[in-house]
Amino acid sequence: MFERKHKGEHALLVQPHRGNRLEDDVLEEFVELARSAGADVVASANARIDRPNAATLIGEGKVEELKVIADASGADLVLVNHALSPVQERNLERALQRRVVDRTGLILDIFAQRAQSHEGKLQVELAQLKHVATRLVRGWTHLERQRGGSIGLRGPGETQLETDRRLLQTRLEQLQRKLDKVEVQRTQMRRARTRSELPRVALVGYTNAGKSTLFNALTGAEAYAADQLFATLDPTVRRIDIPGGRAILADTVGFVRDLPHELVAAFRSTLSEAREADLLLHVIDAADPLREERIAQVDAVLAEIGAGDLPQILVFNKIDRIEGAAARRDVPTDARPRVWLSARDRIGLDHLRDALGDIFALRRVIGELHLPAEAGRLRARLHALDAIRSETHDDGGWNMAIDLPETEALRLIAAGDADALRPLLPDLEVDPI
Ligand code: GTP
Repeated sequence: MFERKHKGEHALLVQPHRGNRLEDDVLEEFVELARSAGADVVASANARIDRPNAATLIGEGKVEELKVIADASGADLVLVNHALSPVQERNLERALQRRVVDRTGLILDIFAQRAQSHEGKLQVELAQLKHVATRLVRGWTHLERQRGGSIGLRGPGETQLETDRRLLQTRLEQLQRKLDKVEVQRTQMRRARTRSELPRVALVGYTNAGKSTLFNALTGAEAYAADQLFATLDPTVRRIDIPGGRAILADTVGFVRDLPHELVAAFRSTLSEAREADLLLHVIDAADPLREERIAQVDAVLAEIGAGDLPQILVFNKIDRIEGAAARRDVPTDARPRVWLSARDRIGLDHLRDALGDIFALRRVIGELHLPAEAGRLRARLHALDAIRSETHDDGGWNMAIDLPETEALRLIAAGDADALRPLLPDLEVDPI
């Protein structure tokens, strides 16, 4: 006897569509989503839904056909790339004698596996519970016992699946309260951050475009990057050096086409990193044949979260996967500046830093400073402004390397207790406020 290595659940993918045309990339993305959730795709089928069936979405004859395909391919799970009402899901499960998960359930499952931070986990649990709330009460009694399947059932909310509606309601309220609290903390943190007046840059882009890899390349951080969709669920925030100063860089969750509305709402606070940025780095997989469509899809999600009007740099990543200048030519003619690079091979990063430096041509005060022991107050102010890059202490006081926006330095000097900064601003006249 030997143990077979655990493989994912065997999934039959069902792609509903209207009319004759079915775009290849729709199915391709769906396959990627299913794999991201850990499924083994054993078969796939299209289903025309020009006149959606209220009870099952998919027509009766097609459902019978799907049952045959599912039996023949050994699928123990059916994934439908469309939103299903609870009733439709239940009827399909009955007819197919297998668990059925819709697009929202699938994306939530992936989110559940990826969530890292406290807030991310809470958001996933809340969204997941809301999604399953109506589906929950029935249990899965209409199905035979499943063999350890878990896609769509996984995540922080898992233990709640057997509880009744009342308990569920209590849990939903509890989660909402916790999230409200986290939201307040997040706002406070953001306020502390903005006090230093560093420009804020957020990475956005279609899932798998390489945002985390670029984030790591620019910050030297080891955030989790994997060739899976949604590797990033929680925004990670770091400082980066750009010519002339520094900026704050935030990684955000990957976007997908038609991100279900309820999910946009659920992840609003995570996505707010993008909304509140001064500039967006819109990362694109340059080798993706559908890159133009992806750009449009990301723009659509940005518009939806209220970040549509923010300035952007289009960052064409993965240039190591394309050949020659020709591949770079047929890009849409819009006014956004563009940079071509390979985050993985660390090629072209300086072009990006330069572009950022140009855009945030902020005048900064950078230099070495000696503060006597009595200047504790100025030192505290510089700390509060996040202006001290390094410092050593000796009997005479502190030696420090500082870096702060010129406006802040001027404000400190004008307020009368920062004369020590004057030598760093030789050419400036300072008007007292
Ligand atoms: P989500 O978190 O799903 O939104 O993905 P992401 O946009 O953060 O992508 P991630 O950085 O996780 O990268 C996705 C895949 O692309 C990984 O396998 C990376 O190794 C790969 N990748 C990223 N940058 C490059 C690059 O410059 N060249 C090549 N060839 N692959 C890259």
